[in-house]
Order: sequence, then C-alpha cells, then structure tokens
Amino acid sequence: ECLVLSDETLHDVCQTLNTELNRGLAKETNAEATIKCFPTFVQELPNGKESGRFLALDLGGTNFRVLLIELGEGKFAMDSKIYAVPHDIMVGHGTELFDHIAACMASFINERQLNDELLPLGFTFSFPCAQEGLTKARLARWTKGFKCAGVEGNDVVAMLKDAIARRQDVRIKICAVLNDTTGTLMSCAWKNHNCMIGLIVGTGTNACYMEKLEKVELWDGATDGPQQDFDSGFEGVIINTEWGAFGDNGCLDDIRVYCDHNIDKESINPGRQLFEKMISGMYMGEIARQVLVKLVDEGLIFENQNCDALKEKGQFFTKYISEIESDKPGDFSNCLSVLEDLGILDATPEDCASVRYVCEVVSRRAANLAGAGVAVLLNRIAQKKVTVAVDGSVYRFHPFFHDMMVEIIKRLVKPGIEFDLMLSEDGSGRGAALVAAVANRSAMERQ
Ligand code: BG6
Ligand code: GLC
Repeated sequence: ECLVLSDETLHDVCQTLNTELNRGLAKETNAEATIKCFPTFVQELPNGKESGRFLALDLGGTNFRVLLIELGEGKFAMDSKIYAVPHDIMVGHGTELFDHIAACMASFINERQLNDELLPLGFTFSFPCAQEGLTKARLARWTKGFKCAGVEGNDVVAMLKDAIARRQDVRIKICAVLNDTTGTLMSCAWKNHNCMIGLIVGTGTNACYMEKLEKVELWDGATDGPQQDFDSGFEGVIINTEWGAFGDNGCLDDIRVYCDHNIDKESINPGRQLFEKMISGMYMGEIARQVLVKLVDEGLIFENQNCDALKEKGQFFTKYISEIESDKPGDFSNCLSVLEDLGILDATPEDCASVRYVCEVVSRRAANLAGAGVAVLLNRIAQKKVTVAVDGSVYRFHPFFHDMMVEIIKRLVKPGIEFDLMLSEDGSGRGAALVAAVANRSAMERQ
C-alpha cells in the first residue's frame, strides 16, 4: 500500500520537482541545489551534411561500448563492440579506469586497422558533470556503481587524453563529451525536430530538456553557446537536469518507505541519488525483493518453501520484474521459472499472483515517478507538440513501462500539450557520433 502513489501525491511531487529545477537553474541557489541543471554545450542539430568516420565511447550504462560510425550522403553505418569494465576498476583509481578505456579503444582501432587515421571522437560519459565547454566536463560526483578515486572535480576529457597519450599508439581528436540523455535527445532530434526531451530509465535515471534561454541564469550567453533554434522558433539551452539526485535534501521523505531506506543505507553512495533509487534498473529488483522478504517474514507467502536465495541481497534481478509481468493473465510460467532460479520450487498460484502484484506495484511506482518528471518538463517547455526521446533497459524491456508512463503523463500535463515517447535507437552511441560530427563540421566551416 505504501508503494502506491495517488494522483494527488504525484501532483505534489511535480510541484516540488519544479521548484527544485528552478533552484538548480538560478545563480543564487545553484550551489546548494540538489538538482544541478548543468547546461550542455551542444550547439547545433545535425543537418545531414556531416560525413566521415567517427568514433564514439559510451560509458555509464549497462555496457561500455566503443563504436565506429560512418556518415556520408545519407549513409549511416555502425560497428560496435562491448567491453567489460571489471568491478575492481569501477571502484579503483581513476587513472586505471581511463587506461582501461584507452586500451579497449586501442584494441578496437587495431582490429579494424584504423591506426593511421586521425579519428574524431564523441565521448558519452553518463555521470553528472559540470561542463565548461563541448570538450571540458568536470565530474561532479560518481553515481550508479562507479567510485574511482581521483576523478571527482577533474576534467574527464583531460583524463582520457592523458591515458591516450600514455599509450602513444592511437590518434584521436576528442570533439565532444556528453551525457547519455543528451546523446539520446540528439539521436532522436536527427529525424524529429519536435524532440526537446531526452530521458533515460536504465541502470540510472535522468533527463535533459530544452529550457528557455532567459530561464537559464547559469548560462552566460557566450557566443559559442548551446543555443538551439527549433522549427517552432523556440530558442533554448539543453539542460542536463541530473534529476536522479531529486530528494537528496529530504524533500521526498514523505513518500520514501522502508525498502528505499534499506537500499540507500546499503548502497555505495548513501544519501545520494534518492529519486534514482526509487526508479531505475540498478535498484528496482532489490525494491521488489525487499517487499517479498517482508511478506515471507510475515508468513504471507511461500509457506514451507526454501527462501534462502531470496533473502540474499541483489538476488532478485530487475529483469525478473519484466519477465514476470510479461506472463499473460492467469499464466505464471515466467514467474515459476524465476522462482525456480531462486530455489523456490513449490510456489502456489496464490504465491505467484502475489509475486506478480509486488512487481506491478514496484514498476508502476517507478513509471509514475519518471512520468511525473516528464510531465514537469513538458509543462515547462509549454510547446504544443513535443517528442520525448527515451532509452534505457527498464523502458526498453519492461512490457508496460511505456504505457504506464503515457497514462500518468496524460493525467499530469497541462491541457493542450501533446507529447509522444519515442524509443531512441542506438541511444547515445549514435548521438555522440552526431555531436562529434556536427562539432567537426562546424570547426571545418569556420576554418
Ligand atoms: C544505451 C545508451 O542505449 O542506454 C547508453 O547507449 C545509456 O549511453 C544506456 O547509458 C542507458 O540504459 P542502461 O540500461 O544500459 O543503463
Ligand atoms: C545517473 C547519472 C546520469 C545519467 C543517468 C542515466 O543518474 O548520474 O548522468 O544520465 O544515470 O544513465
């Protein structure tokens, strides 16, 4: 019951989020604001004239990827490879992390015999960064499962350049660094000029959006700024909200419940990213697990069953929620096979119905909160028709996440605003290459 949010509560969440966004955008309050609202430095949309070969790096989602993108005369070809980032590197020293990234990139380039080319690179770095230019981004703080020493406060582009210089075997020209939300927005905006919001509901959650120029006090109006002119005449700046930190000042305490507190306490970053911890894939399975364990302890489910595995932290994966909710009504095949994975072999139909209900409540709360966030951004943009570009494993793989979000946004958005949620194919990989391509084209045109 405590995980079910009424529309009235969600309206309050919207109001609070709107206030927090204003605090992040205003010069006077930004320093202590929890939602940082970082202006990005993405200047232009692609115009289709970009050409050449581009590299992209994508770090911070489920997979670390190196990509090679070829653009030219309407052509768009992509080749990519996933590389592992071992856990000890995720929590080791920053130089090791960047050495690892450079090593993966070098191996990718060697395999494709591209060593002689000076390749332009777009770097999608999906963590909160204060950008000081298109190629300068200081990491504000690590989020999700990363915690490498010596990176917070530093420019991640400079750290990547240093790692490349230490190897001396690849030639790279870093043209842009961007957040995955920006990449997602860009890759969608390439085809759809109404696209003004980029949303991620994956390992983490975050959104960027086009804010009106006059509302962005932090933007000092430099001539090479991130101004964007849309078909509608809307002039604005792409703001990376970093809304995952919403609630870190206590403003969501009324709706946070025992499982939220437990998850936060046991996390690598207690007290941080509290909104993210209620929504995203890194935590959703664990929320469901905590509720299920409570039901077991109260004797309400799995009577006489071995629940040892279920009682272990992290054992109920977020993908289980998608699988269980994908069962047709009355059929529990996926649910039974998940329970079997957990060593629960004799679950009754009533047990399965309860497990499914828990999953539904947890995913609906996440969709409602993410939807409330989108509604706030749509109301701020206040354009008649806006497309929201979306990526991330939760949105992509959960059978009803999209529908649940659409449902709640419709109920929270101001009358007269039309919207659609569009899956952004190839997300930030393609977006990064496009930002690099545009920056490269603009630089060439200026020469
Ligand atoms: C991917 C993007 O498609 O989605 C990444 O390429 C992004 O940049 C990711 O971070 C988000 O989803 P997840 O589920 O991988 O965290
Ligand atoms: C985390 C990061 C943010 C990123 C999001 C989605 O919230 O801080 O930068 O956009 O995850 O990957």
